[in-house]
Amino acid sequence: MYSARSAEINPFTVMELLQRAQEFEEQGKRVVHFEVGEPDFTTAQPIVEAGIAALRAGKTQYTSAQGILPLREKIAEFYANHGLAISPSRIHITSGASGGLVLLAGLLLDPGDRMLITDPGYPCNQVFARLVGAEAKTVRLDAAREFRLSVEDVETAWDKQVKGILVASPANPTGTLLPPDDLRRISQWTKQRGGFVILDEIYQGLVHKNSPYVSGLAISDDLFVLNSFSKFFGMTGWRLGWVVIPEDAEELFVKLAQNLVISPSSIAQFAALEAFSPEAIVIHQQRAKEFAQRAERLSAGLLEMGFKIPVMPEGAFYLYVDIAHTGIPSDEFCWRLIEEYQVAVTPGKDFGVHSSDQFVRFAYTTADASIDLGLQRIAEALRAWGVKR
Ligand SMILES: Cc1ncc(COP(=O)(O)O)c(C=O)c1O
Repeated sequence: MYSARSAEINPFTVMELLQRAQEFEEQGKRVVHFEVGEPDFTTAQPIVEAGIAALRAGKTQYTSAQGILPLREKIAEFYANHGLAISPSRIHITSGASGGLVLLAGLLLDPGDRMLITDPGYPCNQVFARLVGAEAKTVRLDAAREFRLSVEDVETAWDKQVKGILVASPANPTGTLLPPDDLRRISQWTKQRGGFVILDEIYQGLVHKNSPYVSGLAISDDLFVLNSFSKFFGMTGWRLGWVVIPEDAEELFVKLAQNLVISPSSIAQFAALEAFSPEAIVIHQQRAKEFAQRAERLSAGLLEMGFKIPVMPEGAFYLYVDIAHTGIPSDEFCWRLIEEYQVAVTPGKDFGVHSSDQFVRFAYTTADASIDLGLQRIAEALRAWGVKR
């Protein structure tokens, strides 16, 4: 009775680990969470207040499918502040970046088409393609090349069925940034083939070096750029994101949105108007700084214990850590760590198959004291398991 497509979807180990972690917590045990890919900070107060005010003012009905104009104008202003002129008509508000991905799959893929995605990469990407009868074809990224997608990778993987590429910068789980020159080459090559490039920028603003945020839109206007209020803006539960699309796709995209979702959440949109206020931006930037400091704290502790971090993240809030020296496959490593020491980390297999047995992802979405406790427990585990540095 149920579709083959739904049966094919792989379960997330991270969700199973989270469930186990919650069981330990119900028994009164303290769990260290390095598995969850969302900020531990709750939404900044100015946004919360705007949400409450919107509810009180009765802003509870459908909005236009594209999203309210004032919010699209704020986003356009945000790009303008970074030197980019983007018309609000090209900005579409979505239900998280996830909602944007569903609509983009509907816009860009037909049954039988293929879309290139990266391995390692965000695991849900293949499901968006599959949902519309297309399929995702993975491109392996190597630690030796800093997990960066190159135009050569794209050329090698391209076949007659491939219609485009989906790539993230900063990326999940590696924190890698795609350098502007690489993006330019990939985008030019793909354009010559009549293909599309979706650039997932949902970790924008969470860049550790003091470099200013530069959107891929500065490189090419033909990109389909995904963004979200989830990560930098700390609004995961509000389910709000946006996409910037080329002008000629606007009408089709709106039609899809009207039919599939009617409109994004009204309350979330009115709350998000405040996400760009100077007060809220100060809070978001402070949090981004804290993530960068945590990256240093956690990576220093792990390196000290003999773990390898082949590529130090340039952004997002993850470390993709090589655990080969433990001699334990990553899935087993994660389950033993949660069962015996109540530390939750995500195995590489959640992000692909390429060398995934050898990698785990740590999310530093937890406070310093927790990071220290986690490190202490992992050190104990390694001692007990007889792992040498
Ligand atoms: C790379 C990437 N893209 C998209 C998403 C979806 O985010 P959301 O739907 O909350 O905006 C995530 C969530 O973790 C992600 O890591």
